[in-house]
Amino acid sequence: MIRLRKVDLSNVWDITRLSVRDDQQSFVASNSYSIIEAFASRESGHAALPFGLYDDDTLVGFVMFGYDYMDGDPEIARGNYLICRFMIDQRYQGKGLGKAALQACLRYLRTWPCGPATHCWLSYEKENTVAKAMYHAAGFRENGETSGEEIVAVCAL
Ligand SMILES: CC(C)(COP(=O)(O)OP(=O)(O)OC[C@H]1O[C@@H](n2cnc3c(N)ncnc32)[C@H](O)[C@@H]1OP(=O)(O)O)[C@@H](O)C(=O)NCCC(=O)NCCS
Repeated sequence: MIRLRKVDLSNVWDITRLSVRDDQQSFVASNSYSIIEAFASRESGHAALPFGLYDDDTLVGFVMFGYDYMDGDPEIARGNYLICRFMIDQRYQGKGLGKAALQACLRYLRTWPCGPATHCWLSYEKENTVAKAMYHAAGFRENGETSGEEIVAVCAL
């Protein structure tokens, strides 16, 4: 069973050592970068919620959520949740863990950790066909917006 655990001193260094394959590097920032970004975002008054993804007690991936609008975001960001990072370590990919972790993430967001919302959004690069298939299977659909060069997809919460 997949569980989310907050990033703290007990797991942060293990999380920074998780990695994706070389050909996936351009699809997601490193976890170190994301955790630094989370710190700075919070200092600036924005929500940023980073978690380790665990398969029982084994650390297998990392996710980070945002909430509400920041400059440059698509309109769907207003009052809604964002999955801004999502990765499964290369050793654990292709075993159904990404799919299960995404469901666990949506369940967590439906507890409204930062307040109520109607939707969760995310963005992916058009070459990232694996992520697109996974998001589609979970109910995400493109809404016509973009975030930088990335395609925005949205799921009702
Ligand atoms: C995207 C990612 C999280 C998927 O994790 P995973 O644990 O390998 O995925 P799963 O094994 O649960 O597979 C989930 C779905 O992805 C798709 N998928 C997985 N491997 C695939 C492959 N080799 N080819 C095509 N589709 C694939 C399928 O739709 C699959 O669902 P299905 O098994 O019901 O067909 C993982 O590949 C990853 O971390 N990639 C690098 C980072 C990244 O791209 N993050 C997303 C940024 S937007």
